[in-house]
Amino acid sequence: MKDYWVRDLSLAELGRRRIEWSRNFMPVLSRILERFDREKPLKGVRVGACLHVTTETAILVEALRRGGAEVNICASNPMSTQDDVAAAMAEEGVRVYAFRGQSFEEYYRCIGYVLASEPELTIDDGADLISTIHKLYYGVESEELKHVREASGDLGVKRLVEGVIGGCEETTTGVLRLRAMARGGRLLYPVVAVNDAESKRLFDNPIGTGQSALDGIVRSTGALLAGRDAVVVGYGNVGSGIARRLRGMGARVTVVEVDPIRALKAAMEGFRVETMRRAASHGELFLTATGNISVIRGEHFKLMRDGAILANAGHFDVEIDKRDLEALSVRRERVLPCVDMYVLGDGRRLFLLGEGRLVNLVCAEGHPTDVMDMSFSLQALSAEYLVRNRGRLPREVLDVPRELDELVAKLKLEAMGMELEELTEEQRRYLASWELGSR
Ligand code: NAD
Ligand code: ADE
Repeated sequence: MKDYWVRDLSLAELGRRRIEWSRNFMPVLSRILERFDREKPLKGVRVGACLHVTTETAILVEALRRGGAEVNICASNPMSTQDDVAAAMAEEGVRVYAFRGQSFEEYYRCIGYVLASEPELTIDDGADLISTIHKLYYGVESEELKHVREASGDLGVKRLVEGVIGGCEETTTGVLRLRAMARGGRLLYPVVAVNDAESKRLFDNPIGTGQSALDGIVRSTGALLAGRDAVVVGYGNVGSGIARRLRGMGARVTVVEVDPIRALKAAMEGFRVETMRRAASHGELFLTATGNISVIRGEHFKLMRDGAILANAGHFDVEIDKRDLEALSVRRERVLPCVDMYVLGDGRRLFLLGEGRLVNLVCAEGHPTDVMDMSFSLQALSAEYLVRNRGRLPREVLDVPRELDELVAKLKLEAMGMELEELTEEQRRYLASWELGSR
C-alpha cells in the first residue's frame, strides 16, 4: 500500500506556511487539539477521512492525530485538493491520497487506499467513503468499485464493518444519502450528522458558502457583482446565504425554489421568486445550491442570454446538466483556468465555472477558516463522542449531542470576545411552567 499519493512534495513548505496562517483563525479547534494532546481520547483508533483537503482539514487531521488516532485521508472531490497542503501533510507522516485534478479512476483508487487501512472511524464530506463501504458489503456493483478493489487489495469488508465504531458526515447531501441507507434498514454503523448541528448548519452553509462561492466567482471571472442579474437556485441553508451576500454586493437577485415555504421566505426577504424557465431567460449569473440533479438543464440553456455565467455550490456536479450543455454545444474551450466556454449552435456562449463542481472549493479555497473552526471542532468532538460511546450507540443517523453543539458556540463566542447572557433561576422556572402566565 502506498504511504501517500500527492501531486508534488516540493510544495510542502508553502503548505506548511498556509496551515500555520490558518491556525490563527481556529481558536476553538486549537483548544480541542491541545486537550486531545493531553488526554489522547482517540488513542489507537484508525480514522479514514474523505474530506476536501485544505488548510483547515490539515488542522483537523492534526487534532485527531494529537488525540492518538492514526489518520488515512483522501479527497472528497477530485478538484478541491490544495496540493501544497496535501504535500505538507504527507511530509508530516499523514497517509494522504489526494491531488487536484484526479480522474474518476484516481479518485476511487484513493478511496480504496483509505479503506485498505481498515478504518474504525469514518469521516465523510458527501458520504463517498461510507457509501463505498456499504456497496462492497451489500455487493452493490458499480463502475467505481473496480478501482476501489484494485487499490484496497485483499480487503475483508465484513471484518472492516465489524471493527467500525462509527462515522461522521459533514454535509447536507451526505446526510441525505445516509438517511436513505437508514430508511432501507441498511446503515451498518452509527453516524453522526455533523451537518445538522446548529453551530454548523447556521454558519458554515449560509455564511461560509455565502462568502466563498462569491469568492470563487470573482476570482475566476473578475465579474462585477453590483447591478448584475443573478439567479440563485435553491433557497435552503446554502442558497439563502448566497442570495443575501449577492444582494449585499449590489446584485439584482432572483430565487428559484420548489419548496413553497422557502420560496415564500425568499419573497418576504425581498427577493424576486420565479420558475427556472422564466429566470433562465434574463439571468446573467446562475448559482445552484439545491443538492438536486439537473436543476438547470437543456430547456433552460436554450433560453439563456449570450455570456451567461453558470456556477454550482451544491455538493456534486449534477445540478447544472453538463451532458445537456455538451449536447447543445458545437464547441467547448477552456478560456481561463476555471472557466469553460460552451458555444451553442446559434453562436451564444455560456460560461461554466469549475466544471460545475463546488465553485467555492474549485475556483477559490473553500470557506474562510473562521467558519471551518466550528464545523471541524464539531467533527473532532463527534469523533471523540463515538469513541467514548463505542458499542453503545444505535445504527442510526445521530444528532450531535446538544451540549457539544452549544459548547462549540460558547467557545467561539468567547474567542470572539462576546458575552453570553444567563437565565436567572426565576426565568428558568417561568419557562418550564404552565401555571405561570401574566403577573
Ligand atoms: P437545503 O436542503 O437546506 O437546501 C436545498 C434547497 O434546494 C431546498 O430548499 C430545496 O427545496 C431546494 N431545491 C431542491 N430541488 C430544487 C429544484 N429543482 N429547484 C429549486 N430548488 C430546489 O440544503 P443546503 O444545506 O442548502 O445544501 C445544498 C447543497 O450544498 C448540498 O448539496 C450540500 O451538501 C451543499 N453544501 C455545499 C457547501 C460548499 O462548501 N459548497 C457547504 C455546505 C453544503
Ligand atoms: N468545505 C467548505 N469549505 C471548506 C474548507 N475550507 N475546508 C474543508 N472543507 C470545506
